[in-house]
Amino acid sequence: MEYNDVMQKIVSLAKRRGFIFQGSEIYGGLAGTYDYGPLGSLLKNNIKDSWLKKFVHSRTDMYLVDAAILMNQNVWRATGHVDHFSDPLVEDLKTNKRYRADNLIEDNGFSAVGLTPSEMTKFIQEKNILSPEGNKLGEVRQFNMMLQTKVGASEDSAATSYLRPETAQGIFVNFKNVVDSMNPKMPFGIAQIGKAFRNEITPRDFVFRLRELEQMEIEYFVKPSAWSEYFEYWKDEMMEWMTSIGLDMKKVHDVEIGDGDRAHYSSRTIDFEFEYPFGQKELYGLAYRGDFDLSRHTDGSGQKLQYVDQGEEGSDVFVPHVIEPTFGLDRTVLALLISAYREDTMGEEARVYLALSPKMAPYKLAVSPLLKNKPELVEKAKNLFGTLKSEFGNVIFDDNGNIGKRYRRQDEIGTPFCVVVDFESLEDDSVTVRFRDSGAQERVTIHDLISYFKEKLA
Ligand code: GAP
Repeated sequence: MEYNDVMQKIVSLAKRRGFIFQGSEIYGGLAGTYDYGPLGSLLKNNIKDSWLKKFVHSRTDMYLVDAAILMNQNVWRATGHVDHFSDPLVEDLKTNKRYRADNLIEDNGFSAVGLTPSEMTKFIQEKNILSPEGNKLGEVRQFNMMLQTKVGASEDSAATSYLRPETAQGIFVNFKNVVDSMNPKMPFGIAQIGKAFRNEITPRDFVFRLRELEQMEIEYFVKPSAWSEYFEYWKDEMMEWMTSIGLDMKKVHDVEIGDGDRAHYSSRTIDFEFEYPFGQKELYGLAYRGDFDLSRHTDGSGQKLQYVDQGEEGSDVFVPHVIEPTFGLDRTVLALLISAYREDTMGEEARVYLALSPKMAPYKLAVSPLLKNKPELVEKAKNLFGTLKSEFGNVIFDDNGNIGKRYRRQDEIGTPFCVVVDFESLEDDSVTVRFRDSGAQERVTIHDLISYFKEKLA
């Protein structure tokens, strides 16, 4: 299978089966925005649940917050986002269309790693790199990616606010609130899941590069001397979670980011890159942010953001250092769909299925009557559906088309098990359970079905 072929197939499956739609589609769309449909929303929530379970609920050192998207503009001045949160922009001199300069350089088979805007301008001229339309390009300059808005009825500059470009700052500005209200012991973390916004110059590659995205972030506060130990610890934790949700770990690579390429706040970063069909690119990041954010906000706000460690020999007052594991939710959805996408032949018929783990699959089970025009089968199947749904939640009743078509449809959305009520069921109170990946079938009595699936879905 060609790689771009896979991408096209995934985009088309995502739309056809209700995972992901173009944002504002009936109005021609809005670039860089996508809407998650019924199945995509379930998948996304399964990812969030699994993340919360591992990184928040099963730990005693993690505090969850849900901060506002709109923040005082001074937050972004203090952190340097107003001055530095930018990407290199270059303009087609004929059409005036704008592109990301580093992307254009890379699309032409070169590396833009470590190049400043003026070096990129020189490089583009030397290599005679043209716009996608074949026209000459202008000077490369920095373009700030924060989306600005005005809060309230006033139009003056004091009303300017930004839609947060990362969820992280909602955590840092609440550091003191969490310490004062929860009295956490060092080390501890604050976690948040939420939307972030970036005015990307060229949103592309489906939900890979969006203007409205969702992040799952942790800021883990440690004693300054302990940062490298926790950096390694979080690297392992991230890999463990990626494996647990079913990402294809052969496609995941950790890449140390060099000095010139790290974000302005980071003094060490590892990117977890994924082999997407359009190339190996960032999936998640792990950054050592030192005391950058807490110190900047102390300077900016005048509030002391520090930690007082009460030991037996007196108190130790310090500004904690921060390890930041960050996970893009939309890229997780995309990487999971790519990891799970399969084509094979079953019963001499080509089929597509998503080999999602039962925990990630939008529906855990599909319940069907063998024939939809036999009331006694339908009634028994509906009763069983009610029982299984109240036990397992995301269970679907499917009586569309014939049984073969239902299997194909459930395969395509990744439902791991189909339960079919047939004529034998009326006699012996048993049902057929059909497995998605192998197509194998097993007979199970209704009496045992809940414990049977509890084990299979664990
Ligand atoms: N707080 C640190 C931070 O925001 P980042 O590497 O800029 O770091 C974190 O972003 C994660 O957010 C990325 O690893 C990626 O998964 C996701 N992400 C970033 N920009 C994105 C975009 N335009 N569209 C979709 N996901 C994006």
